[in-house]
Amino acid sequence: MNDFHDIVSKLIVWYEKNARDLPWRRTKNPYHIWLSEIMLQQTRVEAVKPYFQRFIQVCPTIESLASAEEETLLKLWEGLGYYSRVRNLQKAAQTVVEEHGGNLPADYHELRKLKGIGPYTAGAIASIAFSLPYAAVDGNVLRVMSRLTADARDIALASTKKAWEEEITSLMPKGQEGAFTQALMELGATVCLPNGMPKCEVCPVREHCLGYKKNAVLQYPVKSPKKPRTKEFLSVFFLAYNGKIAISKRGEKGLLSGLWQLPNCSREKALPVALNEWGIITGEIKNMTSRKHIFTHIEWHMDCYFVDVKEYENNGFLWLDKETVEKEYALPSAFKKVWEEGGSLLEE
Ligand code: ADE
Repeated sequence: MNDFHDIVSKLIVWYEKNARDLPWRRTKNPYHIWLSEIMLQQTRVEAVKPYFQRFIQVCPTIESLASAEEETLLKLWEGLGYYSRVRNLQKAAQTVVEEHGGNLPADYHELRKLKGIGPYTAGAIASIAFSLPYAAVDGNVLRVMSRLTADARDIALASTKKAWEEEITSLMPKGQEGAFTQALMELGATVCLPNGMPKCEVCPVREHCLGYKKNAVLQYPVKSPKKPRTKEFLSVFFLAYNGKIAISKRGEKGLLSGLWQLPNCSREKALPVALNEWGIITGEIKNMTSRKHIFTHIEWHMDCYFVDVKEYENNGFLWLDKETVEKEYALPSAFKKVWEEGGSLLEE
């Protein structure tokens, strides 16, 4: 685009005046910027703020993150979802301690070698923390650029993203790399909004926007549809024995791997069969509210049961009181409402 340089400087001026005051923008600490970018993947800014503050209180340095107990980290992440993000964060922190003396490398390619750091995160850290000329291209930035240039390439394609990474990298203003990266993010997050809601009336680069000129902002970005999510149907159990509740550990592979959960099985299995396989002898079984939980590629449809347990065999479940689980274990959000409803039945 021919007037790109004008656009870059207008965006930076606009950003410096209008940037939201966010905890990770008050610092140049590369660790904090890294952590914020990982938390902000898939999670909204407002939701991230308290998690970010708490995390850096408990793990103020990369060393402390590297040596933290996994259970502590999972608890700090509880409710943010996508727990592999925090596991990767810790693995990367361990590498940083072992190979870089505890400091993130000021080098895009070295950053990319760290677990969980892809092109977007490496570009964000490189530009924001180290003033290096690398782009951080996510869905927001792709939307902004597609509209600005009335570009009809499919943003679901890796080739489109790569092309924009190269283009934006070539436009990086010297000394203001971080401001430019964040200006693009900020425009996408506060002005050039998705879902038919752009606020063109307050856009600092409207006069350069080809989408706007063509009165076609809403036609961009072009994105091919995702394949529909797989539906899984489950029976989920709140098993209560003498004030203790059973939790079980998920397998090491796949969705929510290695996390604690409420015991569950496929809905196809008859309840008495499932409970019998777990060595559980029941009293009353109450139906609880059926729930749905949506993950990126899967949705869970859960029939939920409160089970008054009379006897159980030692079957690998942990039986703990409610407070202990809440204080010490990270229960994935999918189970949170079931947990709360079971907890209130327990008190009756
Ligand atoms: N989304 C992704 N990265 C962000 C950042 N640094 N500030 C605000 N929103 C973001």
